Amino acid sequence: MITMKNIIREGHKSLVQVAKEVKLPLSKHDFQLGLDLLEYIKNSQDDGIAQEHQLRPAVGLAAPQINVLKRMFAVHVTDFDGMLYSFILINPKIVKTSKSLIYLPGGEGCLSVDRITEGITPRYEWVEFEAHSLDVPSGLVVPITLKVEGYVGIVFQHEFDHLNGILYTTKLFPELPNAKPAFEFETACASLENQPD
Ligand code: NI
Repeated sequence: MITMKNIIREGHKSLVQVAKEVKLPLSKHDFQLGLDLLEYIKNSQDDGIAQEHQLRPAVGLAAPQINVLKRMFAVHVTDFDGMLYSFILINPKIVKTSKSLIYLPGGEGCLSVDRITEGITPRYEWVEFEAHSLDVPSGLVVPITLKVEGYVGIVFQHEFDHLNGILYTTKLFPELPNAKPAFEFETACASLENQPD
């Protein structure tokens, strides 16, 4: 299993390199890579496992963060309506975006960044991806088109950036007059408190 020991940190050269396309059909090795990425996120969201293995909580993890320069990332995140987005995406491409920009109030974080950062990061209000998706229950790799918006869209864009060697720390601004917050703080706090453990 992936633990924090496997995660490379800011300053490592692999975090600023463009990752390579994954060959399809998926090799056994790359299949396992996808499963491992998703497993880390799920483990990190389980209080018991996270505490036992000292896992920092996460909603997304990209292959370059474990020093594998392949275009693959996993997300496991629930939006504020309680809808779960659990995906292992392979060779994702952004094919459409909103014109409007949003940002995560309070700023983003990253398992590869150990320091507290200040500032907010502009993201599209929504993005449409074309990708291959590794479906865990069936083990099938299927082409998908996926439109994600708001907070979930921010998570996907953050992970996508890792595939191009971009850390959110290179996109920090004290304010963004042309962007709006992805949500109001009070709504977010209420929703987060309502999430089951
Ligand atoms: Ni990150």
